[in-house]
Amino acid sequence: MPANGSLDCVPVPKRSRLAGLAAWGPKLTERPFTTLEIDVMRATSGKPITPTWGDAVVSPHRNMSPTLELTYNPAVFNVADIPAAMRIILTPEGVPTEQRWRLETPYVADLIGKEIEITPNTLLIDYGCGIGRIAKELIARHGCRVIGVDISPSMRALAVTYVQSDRFFTCPPQMLDAMINRGVTVDAAISIWVLQHCVFPDEDIARLRGALKTAGRLFILNNDDRAVPTIERGWVSDGLDIKTMLSRDFVLQTEGRPALEHTSGAIAELTFWASFQKRG
Ligand SMILES: C[S@@+](CC[C@H](N)C(=O)[O-])C[C@H]1O[C@@H](n2cnc3c(N)ncnc32)[C@H](O)[C@@H]1O
Repeated sequence: MPANGSLDCVPVPKRSRLAGLAAWGPKLTERPFTTLEIDVMRATSGKPITPTWGDAVVSPHRNMSPTLELTYNPAVFNVADIPAAMRIILTPEGVPTEQRWRLETPYVADLIGKEIEITPNTLLIDYGCGIGRIAKELIARHGCRVIGVDISPSMRALAVTYVQSDRFFTCPPQMLDAMINRGVTVDAAISIWVLQHCVFPDEDIARLRGALKTAGRLFILNNDDRAVPTIERGWVSDGLDIKTMLSRDFVLQTEGRPALEHTSGAIAELTFWASFQKRG
């Protein structure tokens, strides 16, 4: 599934809903919660974690949990080379990374192609592009142009090498904001295994909305539940419902679960894809 690698990001089990906030550290996937942890979860249920970039608190105006402060850890997405990037982008979920890469990439590109009309004239955003796995496939199939947006400088740098196309460039979200503020719009956007990891997904969703032209299409592939990387607890769910959040700015067009024959049982059960159209 989405990001993890050595930290073992896994789909958040449905039982985590009972606790309101589920936390995972490395290799804790199947470990039952202790009473203390459940108390902490109850105490923090529904409240955002306290995210920081390094030492600086990002949004001190947001409600902070009085009992549990977690530090957002985007460094999990810093990788040294393409093999390391692949391991954190598609973690082995009962299926090795290499096999997932080979089977899921064309399958996801098929899904996107069915939901979004893509021509050589199309400009689209791959939000959280990683090393450009899907961007590369879409450019090869449709000859479109892709702006890969990612918070990780190393992913962005590796993406240029991996995609190797003049129809592709990468930038951080802040550069996309600058382009949006100057009136740039795109025809469509995709975001694959990303929104579950975003610390303030309302900001990412607003950015996607701002970047899309009127009635522009958006394709999402995501965990049902959240997996925000933290220093103290590894991957954490804050209980936010990404599909519901998206539905405020976008009209749901089609949705489904990844087909079992193209992925693993866990992914087919605990993740969704959905296509949207920007609200007018
Ligand atoms: C699991 S990887 C998926 C990469 C790619 N979409 C794919 O499927 O091959 C998640 C990517 O999202 C990026 N990311 C996480 N939070 C982000 C944010 N708020 N804005 C942009 N990119 C983000 C990470 O750096 C990482 O490259």
